[in-house]
Amino acid sequence: MTALSDAVALRRTFAIISHPDAGKTTLTEKLLLFGGAIQMAGAVRARGEQRRARSDWMSIERERGISVTASVMSFEHGGLSFNLLDTPGHEDFSEDTYRTLTAVDSAVMVLDAAKGIETQTRKLFEVCRLRDVPIVTFINKVDREGRETFDLLDEIEKTLALDVCPLTWPIGMGRDLKGVYDLTADQVVLFEQTRGDHLPEGIDMPLEDPRLDGLVGADAAARLREEVELVRGACPSFDLEAFRAGHLSPVFFGSALRNFGVRELLNGIGRLAPPPRQQSADPRVIDPLEETVSGFVFKVQANMDPNHRDRIAFFRLCSGRFKRGMKLKHVRSGKLMAIGNPVFFLARDRELAEEAFPGDIMGIPNHGALRIGDTLTEGEDVRFNGIPSFAPEVLRRVRLDDPMKAKQLRKALEDLAEEGVSQLFKPLNGASWIVGVVGQLQFEVIANRIESEYSLKAGFEEAPFETARWVHSEDKLLIKRFVEANTSSMAEDRDGALVFLARNSWALGRAQQDFPDIVFSATREQH
Ligand code: G4P
Repeated sequence: MTALSDAVALRRTFAIISHPDAGKTTLTEKLLLFGGAIQMAGAVRARGEQRRARSDWMSIERERGISVTASVMSFEHGGLSFNLLDTPGHEDFSEDTYRTLTAVDSAVMVLDAAKGIETQTRKLFEVCRLRDVPIVTFINKVDREGRETFDLLDEIEKTLALDVCPLTWPIGMGRDLKGVYDLTADQVVLFEQTRGDHLPEGIDMPLEDPRLDGLVGADAAARLREEVELVRGACPSFDLEAFRAGHLSPVFFGSALRNFGVRELLNGIGRLAPPPRQQSADPRVIDPLEETVSGFVFKVQANMDPNHRDRIAFFRLCSGRFKRGMKLKHVRSGKLMAIGNPVFFLARDRELAEEAFPGDIMGIPNHGALRIGDTLTEGEDVRFNGIPSFAPEVLRRVRLDDPMKAKQLRKALEDLAEEGVSQLFKPLNGASWIVGVVGQLQFEVIANRIESEYSLKAGFEEAPFETARWVHSEDKLLIKRFVEANTSSMAEDRDGALVFLARNSWALGRAQQDFPDIVFSATREQH
């Protein structure tokens, strides 16, 4: 029987954060190839299409060819078990994308070498920063002309306030790409020898070795020596502690498409990324090595299987050894739940989870009892923190086409908000409700589900608001003054928490300036 401590030490639970088109799908495929989880590249996409063909629970997914739902892929490599949590990366991503990042112990940030940091990379990075998630950077597409390497590193440091430490260095770029230099092992990995699944081994080659000139050409060798000297001067040695605290990112270069530099990246994740970490909870921190089982739900997905109206709760195990059939306490309701049919998500399939360890993600089928943020334990009353709601980035007013159905619509919107699909705000001045989401596409998802699951028609109209902030102060009088000064912008969320709906960033800035003692929060813990 595997000891708990061994199983924990061997697990790496991570996600890829990137802007659309940076190469996340391609990289995912290549990582799965290493784990033998798929036989050929292209399977991730192919599987997505298969699933779309099979399921019609969400026609938008088919129509738009977008995978609205995130999934989990588990694979093994080098004796380690990797759980890769997918974050929907299309421009119209959702709050789920953010919340998935609360269930990982590290993240790989993929950048396009020609583009550097883009808007979505940055948003996702900020979510990682909330929990100091360690970030490994992969600069992709070095087989194409990209930006100056130093320039890219500088941009990461400046825009994200994150220190960087390259662990590999590209030898040339684009048409002149010769390979990468492994700065830890002092090895050259040659690009031209990469063919299909054949990956060249690194060649031991100290920089001063004259054979380097023969291997990559005198000009490239000279440039490499010069650049490495600069890099080593700026970043003398990799500081594991600073990385694990989320302050420093190791950087790898490669081409996901050409399967180049990916092995070095994966080995890097295995070597550097932390195994399942302690999790902050109320009233005490939970250590993964504790014998009793505990974990939390970070995502709920409805109607994965169109034949059943079940929901799947995505559950991250945080401590103990889970065995199928266990009865766990649902802390919010105090009830016991028998976990009889939990599933693991493999690259190609799902399988019944007989046993799971901290860091693993299980899908728990249920009829709506499990909500985002819920904790399950073997009896102790603890609640995990840090699975928040995120301030919406798009807000719309609800338009009800049939006023006789107002009550049903209210129920539908409340259900969907509870599931974490959207957020619901009730303006204090009695105006029609406002629905908020993180990605635009969610409105189509909501309208589609309201129609198919509740047989109602609802539309969404422009609302004069751009974003929302939860407002809080111990000083009740101050809050009262704030509400009076902003009556048409105040609302309550579904839990009755006070929310300021901002017309634009200027209005938000102004409110913050006028009321410096009020806390304006972009996240709110689930209750
Ligand atoms: P995403 O999931 O982050 O959105 O990106 P995806 O992997 O789908 O990659 C976006 C595009 O970039 C794809 O091209 C893909 O082939 C290409 N790409 C990914 N990695 C590399 C790389 O290392 N080098 C180069 N040169 N290109 C790369 P596409 O033409 O949009 O799609 P496809 O028709 O090739 O599938």
